[in-house]
Amino acid sequence: MVILQARNIQYKYHDGTYALCGISLDVKKGELLAILGQNGSGKTTLLKHLNGLLKPLGGEIVLERKPLAQYSSKEIFQRVGIVFQDPNDQLFAPSVREDVAFGPMNLGLSKDEITQRVDEALKLVGMTPHANKAVDALSFGQKKRVCIAGVLAMKPEILVLDEPTCGLDPAGVTSIMTLLKELNATHGITIIMATNTVDLVPVYMDRLAIMYHGSILRIGTPEEAFSNTDEIKHACLELPQIAQLMQILRDENNLTMDNLPLTVGEARKFLINTINLKHSEVGM
Ligand SMILES: Nc1ncnc2c1ncn2[C@@H]1O[C@H](COP(=O)(O)OP(=O)(O)OP(=O)(O)O)[C@@H](O)[C@H]1O
Ligand SMILES: [Mg+2]
Repeated sequence: MVILQARNIQYKYHDGTYALCGISLDVKKGELLAILGQNGSGKTTLLKHLNGLLKPLGGEIVLERKPLAQYSSKEIFQRVGIVFQDPNDQLFAPSVREDVAFGPMNLGLSKDEITQRVDEALKLVGMTPHANKAVDALSFGQKKRVCIAGVLAMKPEILVLDEPTCGLDPAGVTSIMTLLKELNATHGITIIMATNTVDLVPVYMDRLAIMYHGSILRIGTPEEAFSNTDEIKHACLELPQIAQLMQILRDENNLTMDNLPLTVGEARKFLINTINLKHSEVGM
């Protein structure tokens, strides 16, 4: 079922930059969708349309079969949570707890319900020990977590994240991606995430949309989208690193493979099978 739909979205900034040139996209309920594209391809502009922060010049966003324009801002912010690229653009309250409580307070919930939601959201992102800390005193990665907690406290159906792993250390990347995967699996939250990190996509995401100069070049599973290596190059993107290695082994070392393995797990399986096959041929 399609939960969110972009229908031919066009957008032009005040200085005349055409950032989106007719984007159409169906987001399926419960999926993890990556938006991939080079710098300036329009990812952030598109994400800001998905919860009405930007209004399209042409086209419309449809949330569960109803145009976004027909919802109140409050309802949209509750149902579609957005986490910005830079946490400093999102956080503004003095303490972690106050920041996370801001959204639920605006929903007019009871004090008990707000406390419960804040505690739960901080626990989900592993920030309970820092609940009373000043926002300014947090590390960059901790700020990102607090931003996610602030959105989770609204209990959204859809979570839109702009480069959530950008600026995090490798352990931070894994823990944020694991958290998103868990939120998706256990709470059924639909996740739409812009990223420049191609390696993450086949490991964690169900589908990806490739953006280029304000348009979507392709949308599909990682296998579908990464199979057209010329298109990936055209979009100024690269294959995941492990797929690059497998591509060299296929093209320059004549290793036969039906599909290019995209993850370490897939490559390992393929290589073990190939080695076992060679061993059994030698043994014959
Ligand atoms: N406030 C603005 N005013 C004018 N032009 C803008 C503004 N914000 C973005 N743009 C332009 O719109 C286009 C798309 O920008 P956008 O920020 O959506 O790209 P992006 O894919 O998110 O890039 P990045 O990977 O660097 O975050 C770019 O050409 C950019 O210069
Ligand atoms: Mg951006």
